[in-house]
Amino acid sequence: MVRPSQVGIVLLGLGVVGGGVARSLLEKSESFAQRVGVPLVLRKALVRDRLRPRSVSLDPTLITTDPEEALATDSDIVVEVIGGERPAYELIREGLKRGRYVVTANKEVMAKHGPELLAAAGDAGTDILYEASVGGGIPIVSPLKRDLSANDISSLRAIINGTTNYILTRMSREGADFGSALAQAQALGYAEAQPDNDVEGHDAVYKLAILASLAFHTRVQPEDVYREGITRLSPRDFRYAAELGYAIKLLAVARRSEAGVQARVHPALVASEELLARVDGVLNAVQVEGDLTGRVLFQGAGAGALPTTSAVMADVLDAARHIAEGSRPSAWRYTADVTIQPIAEIISRYYIRLEVEDRPGVLAGFARCFGDNGVSIASVIQKESDEQAQTTEIVVMTHASKEAAVQASLAAMEEARAVRQVGNVIRVED
Ligand SMILES: NC(=O)c1ccc[n+]([C@@H]2O[C@H](COP(=O)([O-])OP(=O)(O)OC[C@H]3O[C@@H](n4cnc5c(N)ncnc54)[C@H](OP(=O)(O)O)[C@@H]3O)[C@@H](O)[C@H]2O)c1
Repeated sequence: MVRPSQVGIVLLGLGVVGGGVARSLLEKSESFAQRVGVPLVLRKALVRDRLRPRSVSLDPTLITTDPEEALATDSDIVVEVIGGERPAYELIREGLKRGRYVVTANKEVMAKHGPELLAAAGDAGTDILYEASVGGGIPIVSPLKRDLSANDISSLRAIINGTTNYILTRMSREGADFGSALAQAQALGYAEAQPDNDVEGHDAVYKLAILASLAFHTRVQPEDVYREGITRLSPRDFRYAAELGYAIKLLAVARRSEAGVQARVHPALVASEELLARVDGVLNAVQVEGDLTGRVLFQGAGAGALPTTSAVMADVLDAARHIAEGSRPSAWRYTADVTIQPIAEIISRYYIRLEVEDRPGVLAGFARCFGDNGVSIASVIQKESDEQAQTTEIVVMTHASKEAAVQASLAAMEEARAVRQVGNVIRVED
């Protein structure tokens, strides 16, 4: 085999991550060439607006706004850092069809189309690498594919959205309400003007679908993941949770059992002494439970130009080594067909905040609704009373119960007017 004299790279996107990648290709060219054996050369960069100021200064002939010109450029690796489903998906598919290795940071494309793109890469004798699509700078895709591959993984619990973790940290530490914590996150550039993708949990759903597919060697699609965002959380939930010894986190949870795979993203009470409870601000963490390793925790910066560049460049260097050595990448296979367990079937403990009338007999009323549905109460704590409205707030902690039974209890309470209002229901993740 003739060793190539260079590895040519085309960048699709030159924004926060693309700018970081271009910069590192220029500034670290010598050490990258040493690590790969041949130089890595940026041959083209696709943008939308040629006139936009850039964080990196490139020869203007390298920049194009024409996707066909970018893909037709003689290259070995296409790095997709545009984001969003389209046109990124079509560009990735086209890059693979033309026999390029593809490196992408795109969670949405990988969550929705990962298996098809991996198969297309296999057919083309190349690979699609996506370390940066989950957890920014935290190595997690590659460890799941390689280092943990001898394990049967039973569960994965993760904080994989920095924006919501920042908001929850502010709510917890300062007693801030959701709106003002979100405004702070927006002012600091941690949250977008349209924050739904983060605060409603969609971003975490894409990432969990990717992680669960890898962990369980199966295909978990975004629509298989149950989702609840953080907008219903109130400062009093944080106060009461802390009194009970818990933090509140937006958790992405995937578990495998004989009943199938459950995958869900929702706020959860996490015991304060757990490491995950102490992952604060914009940090991300993924905890994996393997039969051989036991618990392993990966933690670090989940976003940002430099950490994400680290993940993208690790994939670029990996692909470049294969290209320089003429070796074939190892194919990733989804081996198991799996049943997705509906949320109604999960078993969890629950924190339930209720507003009830402040009069005798109320406790018996809602306790009956739980009992009739087979939900066993672990504790009932009376919180604040509103004398004017003659109501009081109660926090119920349940023993492990089926979700469907808890939901049926709450419906029965509302039907029997045993409560004025269900304030919040949060699963406890032990
Ligand atoms: N930012 C992070 O911290 C982070 C962390 C982990 C993963 N990621 C992922 O990395 C990817 C890129 O994110 P980013 O923050 O770098 O985004 P970004 O700053 O918005 O950059 C996107 C780039 O793509 C270009 N682009 C957008 N639409 C295009 C189109 N239709 N045709 C051609 N070029 C187009 C833009 O061109 P112009 O510059 O001309 O507008 C820009 O250069 C996303 O998948 C994101 O989820 C980002």
